[in-house]
Amino acid sequence: MKQEVQRIQEEALAELSKTTSLEELQELKVKYLGKKGSLTAQLRKMGSLSPEERPIFGQIVNETRDLLEEAWARRTEELSKAALEKQLEEERIDISLPGVALPRGHQHPLTKVIEDIEDIFLGMGFTIAEGPEIESDYYNFEALNLPKDHPAREMQDSFYITDEILLRTQTSPVQIRAMEKLYPQLPVKIICPGKVYRKDDDATHSPMFHQVEGLVVDKGIRMSDLKGILLNFLRQMFGESREIRLRPSFFPFTEPSAEVDVSCMLCGGSGCRICKGTGWIEILGSGMVHPRVLEAGGYDSRELTGFAFGMGVERIAMLKYGIEDMRLLFENDLRFLEQF
Ligand code: DAH
Repeated sequence: MKQEVQRIQEEALAELSKTTSLEELQELKVKYLGKKGSLTAQLRKMGSLSPEERPIFGQIVNETRDLLEEAWARRTEELSKAALEKQLEEERIDISLPGVALPRGHQHPLTKVIEDIEDIFLGMGFTIAEGPEIESDYYNFEALNLPKDHPAREMQDSFYITDEILLRTQTSPVQIRAMEKLYPQLPVKIICPGKVYRKDDDATHSPMFHQVEGLVVDKGIRMSDLKGILLNFLRQMFGESREIRLRPSFFPFTEPSAEVDVSCMLCGGSGCRICKGTGWIEILGSGMVHPRVLEAGGYDSRELTGFAFGMGVERIAMLKYGIEDMRLLFENDLRFLEQF
């Protein structure tokens, strides 16, 4: 009987070493150690033994059981470890492989230019004002000293919603809105970037385009202040060696008015295709705020003066990046946009 137990033990250990899965292991456990297992069956033979032999045999069977259970536990651990390793191997992610690169976007050149302009003026103590794109005739024209029959309205034909409501043709109405809002604070020192609309469409004009308006009102503001601010701005925008010149011009909302030219950033002033041989590039309109405009904004034109200016963002972007057709800025062709 002792040999029989010994045999069972050897057989069990041999089979155990060949198991390859936790399921097999479980089956084998039932076969040897279960209620009807072969080792358990040995215990039942105890009845045929003498009382002296019984405890000895019982001890042998128990020792074998302990030994086998220990062997099972070890094998269970081995197999589960192997199973885990196999799973880890199968589900392994190779983190050294390059990922799927998402194309990285960036700002539209116009957005970038607007932010550059804002940064420069914020640096000079301006704040940023805003106004509606759907504007009344009053703010867009009337309050800016452009009465209904004024010939200067002709250059700014727009999209009318009613006789009195239109898509703004310029950011200048924000001058009035800003003054109304800020009164009686001084100084008024704002810029206003935004979209404007006109009945225009060719290589250098678009029915929607962007302007940045500027307005400064305070005691003792002079034309030299205007010139200084614009020179500083244009040098930061187009390079420290730029010069500017002011040419007499006309705008209904300024008196006197000046067209501002900047020395050509391409040829430096000697004359080229971009500046049409003149060395100068027209860049913005400006002037001393007309007393009627100050009054429309609520400020006293006998005590205060101011200057204003307005520039086209597309034009600045085109000059800065050498873009020859304005429509490229609105077609959103990635082959174009990715160049910035
Ligand atoms: N609003 C003018 C335009 O769209 C530009 C302009 C000129 C604005 C002179 C100004 C200014 O504030 O003083 O053509």
